Amino acid sequence: MNTSNATPYGTLPPASPVAARKPISLPRLQDMRERGEKISMLTAYDATFAAVADAAGVDCILVGDSLGMVCQGLPSTVGVSLETMRYHVESVVRGVQRVQGTTWIIGDLPFGSYHESREQALRSATVLMQAGAHMVKLEGGGWTTETVRFLVERGIPVCAHLGLTPQTVHALGGYRVQGRGDSAAKLRQDALALQDAGAAMLVLEMVPAALSAELTEALPRCHTIGIGAGKGTAGQVLVMHDMLGINLGKNPKFVRNFMTGQSSVLDAMGAYVRAVKDGSFPDNTLHAW
Ligand code: KIV
Repeated sequence: MNTSNATPYGTLPPASPVAARKPISLPRLQDMRERGEKISMLTAYDATFAAVADAAGVDCILVGDSLGMVCQGLPSTVGVSLETMRYHVESVVRGVQRVQGTTWIIGDLPFGSYHESREQALRSATVLMQAGAHMVKLEGGGWTTETVRFLVERGIPVCAHLGLTPQTVHALGGYRVQGRGDSAAKLRQDALALQDAGAAMLVLEMVPAALSAELTEALPRCHTIGIGAGKGTAGQVLVMHDMLGINLGKNPKFVRNFMTGQSSVLDAMGAYVRAVKDGSFPDNTLHAW
């Protein structure tokens, strides 16, 4: 375990929580939640950035299928394969183990890898868990509930994902806010069912701030992680390339460029962790829903 704030990537500011950090686990996440400490999550896809995120004290790394867009240059996440996800999960795990090995790693199940049956989902989740992930993530509401229960009963921690679910972007008609008006009731119902099925985390993407704050209150055992979902969630996640200001396209409205005013990626990630923890990210001007 690291005993100072010096890392192979530079030295963190003295207030950094990294020194003497213990590995993140489900009980530690629950404890953070009960103490009101916000959970910081970033995506990462390779060993070096994962090592820097671990050194910066990021609580959770999501090896997201967003890698299809930021690493592979695909137009959406739909074309990402399970084999590609396995490759990137393994790379991230190796990177995290090079530094402190404290960050909780979530592997994203790609489009088509859990849709057929619970058994197919178990086979796909096994691939990512054997690559070193601590948890798998899957997208969708009601229809995924029994799959989540099946995986959790077999010892696989699950993160669910509601709101804007990028794998169904074509069905949703684009990257737009979800859970407004009548659809809020369905989102509430799905979130409660997913907690009941044993999901330990729930990404809420582009959901109105009031609704995600309400769901956070309603889900004490399932930690809500917001992305464009306001301040009221148990934690926050951003796509790493977006928060470093190196997105090839247009940055979503809710993103802050954490490289501004920083001289290294380590410092930018450290600034992100501190801003999530002290509640200064997101602020209410970063989203208009
Ligand atoms: O794939 C991903 O990076 C994600 C985040 C946007 C939450 O699902």
